[in-house]
Amino acid sequence: MTREPVIQLEQVRKSYGEGAGTTQVLRGVSLEVPRGELIALVGQSGSGKSTLLNIVGGLDKADGGNVRVLGHDYRSTSEPELARLRNKKIGFVFQAFNLLDHLTCLGNVTLPASFAAGARDVVRRGQAALGRVGLGDFAHRKPSELSGGQKQRVAIARALFNEPELLLCDEPTGNLDSATGHEVIEFFRELNEKDGVTLMIVTHERRMSTIARRVITMRDGQIVEGDQAGDEDTGGPA
Ligand SMILES: Nc1ncnc2c1ncn2[C@@H]1O[C@H](COP(=O)(O)OP(=O)(O)O)[C@@H](O)[C@H]1O
Ligand SMILES: [Mg+2]
Repeated sequence: MTREPVIQLEQVRKSYGEGAGTTQVLRGVSLEVPRGELIALVGQSGSGKSTLLNIVGGLDKADGGNVRVLGHDYRSTSEPELARLRNKKIGFVFQAFNLLDHLTCLGNVTLPASFAAGARDVVRRGQAALGRVGLGDFAHRKPSELSGGQKQRVAIARALFNEPELLLCDEPTGNLDSATGHEVIEFFRELNEKDGVTLMIVTHERRMSTIARRVITMRDGQIVEGDQAGDEDTGGPA
């Protein structure tokens, strides 16, 4: 077990477009996230939150600076290695759920299954993941039969299927009513406290900021509030 931070960002930069149409979306973001952290990433729309999350998750590439996640320096990580890291160690939850409607809940949850795993084990683990989010009886239903909150729980079960060390969530309660959103938030808190999963959550939800151990605010592609890399002031043990 390593004491190395789960996420280490140094002066990360990202632009979109070319020439006069260039938009600088990240302007030197530095951040260190130790294992077991629960971070809320807040800030106005367009401030670069999703871009940052996607870069951390290896879904998008930085143009400058260093990105190191779970011991992998992304500059020297090959695409297949990155794909494996995303599949096995990083879970993603998005606002839009991103479920496949032609598959059952179990089919969606077991999508990240390794082909090496036996089919029985995949089904058992898929069932277990659905059970964890309270949808054990929904394995053979289709997403179209579920409420928004249930769909998001299926998406969370899919993200947890491979027992990731890091869970990245982009406005996971954005499409949920507040009661359902609070259930999801509570689930994230438990996941962090009981299972020690490191979470980084982009959110507008005030409640999320109250369960987060750290709140980081972004503005115009920079962190303007919250701990910067190297800042040890994360408070004492709970
Ligand atoms: N693929 C893209 N191509 C061009 N511009 C993009 C792309 N993704 C994001 N942007 C721009 O980057 C800025 C930050 O976007 P984003 O990271 O989505 O912000 P947030 O999640 O904080 O709302 C916005 O101005 C957005 O228009
Ligand atoms: Mg966004």
